[in-house]
Amino acid sequence: MIQVAINGYGTIGKRVADAVREQPDMEVVGVAKTRPNFEAETALEKGFSLYAAIEERADQFAEAGLEIAGPVEDLVDEADVVVDATPSGIGAENKAMYEEYDTPALYQGGEDADLVDVSFNARSNFEDAVDADHVRVVSCNTTGLSRVLAPLREAYGVEKVRATLVRRGGDPGQTSRGPINDILPNPVTIPSHHGPDVETIFDDLDIDTLGMKVPATLMHMHSLNVTLSEEVDASEVRDLFADESRLFLIPERMDIDGSGKLKEYAMDAGRPRGDIWENCIWEESISTVGTDLYLFQGIHQESDVVPENVDAIRAVLGAADAEESIATTDETMGIGL
Ligand SMILES: NC(=O)c1ccc[n+]([C@@H]2O[C@H](COP(=O)([O-])OP(=O)(O)OC[C@H]3O[C@@H](n4cnc5c(N)ncnc54)[C@H](OP(=O)(O)O)[C@@H]3O)[C@@H](O)[C@H]2O)c1
Repeated sequence: MIQVAINGYGTIGKRVADAVREQPDMEVVGVAKTRPNFEAETALEKGFSLYAAIEERADQFAEAGLEIAGPVEDLVDEADVVVDATPSGIGAENKAMYEEYDTPALYQGGEDADLVDVSFNARSNFEDAVDADHVRVVSCNTTGLSRVLAPLREAYGVEKVRATLVRRGGDPGQTSRGPINDILPNPVTIPSHHGPDVETIFDDLDIDTLGMKVPATLMHMHSLNVTLSEEVDASEVRDLFADESRLFLIPERMDIDGSGKLKEYAMDAGRPRGDIWENCIWEESISTVGTDLYLFQGIHQESDVVPENVDAIRAVLGAADAEESIATTDETMGIGL
């Protein structure tokens, strides 16, 4: 069994911990937090051992009546691999600790690409991460773009990508980002940083991205234009995407007109926390004009990177190949709406 440590138990970390627990070949050694709060309490209620990310603050857990298994260093030492899901920039600070204990580490999209050996998306470059010590699971937006571009590149070739990313202002629990009522070009400079991030996955890709932020918490929305190397009928693209387990084509008959109904559907479908691990592509939006492909997709920022973290664990340890890992992750998590 692969022993997995989760350092940082917030939006991403708690979801990764639950997904790891579902895997037949993995166990969660424990999770680390800096302070006691509702997430610390639920971690213990779920049976995860809780470690103190900052040793001097261990007393605070005791005062709150929460049992601590030890300092984060013990957790890292015990594990075969650590998933760092701390806020942006803290992963970089933690790198020396992972090196000290010789534990391979996965970081999240908020860290710089040059912190790691490999930026990772399971569908696109799984093999690049095999035996790597430091791997970054790319951001929710980059994951969403990579999953669409990988099959298009393989099937038809891609000449140019132009994407506008309408980004949620904050996650539902992220009160520090609100209250908000505005529409921001963000970043206002063009192209945005998202394109270069996708190029960490496909280094020969020609992509320009524009970013916006809107007062929404549920999901991001991408408006995508991909110039393919050949003329393709839209129905062919729909068939291509239908074979991809992490792309959900929203059928017209479902009458899902936006992020609100998508989240409602996920909750009705019994998804934990209403999570949507798949890209949600409106089937009717898939259109072609000559070699240009257009589509709209919704990306659930809190959860699309979760299966990618699970696959990255197997990649760094050489525990499975891409096909086998993705199939196991999809089956255990119930991916495929
Ligand atoms: N949320 C998203 O939409 C999203 C999507 C994709 C990728 N990401 C990336 O995932 C990473 C984590 O983001 P997130 O949204 O999960 O953040 P988050 O909700 O703020 O969770 C991070 C957790 O780390 C804990 N933490 C803070 N300092 C720590 C430290 N020194 N050691 C250990 N734990 C520490 C915090 O908990 P306590 O301080 O309470 O212990 C917090 O709960 C970032 O790189 C982000 O860019 C986020």
